[in-house]
Amino acid sequence: MKLIKEKNYEAMSRQAANIISAQVIIKPDCVLGLATGSTPIGTYNQLAAWYEKGDVDFSRVRTINLDEYIGISGRDEHSYRYFMDKNFFEKINIKKENTFVPSGIAKDIEKECKEYDRRIKDFGGIDLQLLGIGLDGHIGFNEPGDCFQKNTHVVKLHSSTIEANSRFFSSPEKVPEYAITMGMISIMQAKKILLIANGKAKEDILNKALYGAITPQIPASILQLHSDLTVIYSEE
Ligand code: F6R
Repeated sequence: MKLIKEKNYEAMSRQAANIISAQVIIKPDCVLGLATGSTPIGTYNQLAAWYEKGDVDFSRVRTINLDEYIGISGRDEHSYRYFMDKNFFEKINIKKENTFVPSGIAKDIEKECKEYDRRIKDFGGIDLQLLGIGLDGHIGFNEPGDCFQKNTHVVKLHSSTIEANSRFFSSPEKVPEYAITMGMISIMQAKKILLIANGKAKEDILNKALYGAITPQIPASILQLHSDLTVIYSEE
């Protein structure tokens, strides 16, 4: 594992964007696994700025996102599809048809999960997976539990996750209770993993995840078993 400590959010974001743009330059048709949430916004902004300058070209890149709320359409401003479109995809030259976010309104959600895994397999896996970490140690929406969930699946969000994500909604009651998330196989089979975290509040869970026991009670702890993990942390 490579741990990079940065002085602030901007430096963390810039460093993460550096690693992602290097990936795109080395392999222009790469598959990027992407995350939503507050943490990667600066990274996406930096990548968009470099795209504007002509330094990085996303025209052949394919992306596959980690998760989506159940019951919310991609046109809803609270959906992760909407988040990705507004914060990243609409600012770069990626082809919309090359961007994938699980559907939270699929009629047959089990089928959606299976097709999502198949799509990742058909892509030949993920070249670089970007991750954030939840306060309870979740990655994607793989919440703490009795076992690691292997495949894309439906998950009931923990109350702490609902509470944390309620900042994006008008009240905690409005946060969907269920989500669809990529499972650990697709994440762990990514050729490279880049985990970003910022803020003092993340320090404790990050330490447990990176140096403590490998346990499904702290889903991110499985990342200790990955052979190419980079973590960028800024305490500010
Ligand atoms: C969202 C995702 C989540 C977030 C985590 C941290 O796609 O994968 O695991 O990375 O909840 O969220 P923030 O960055 O808002 O602290």
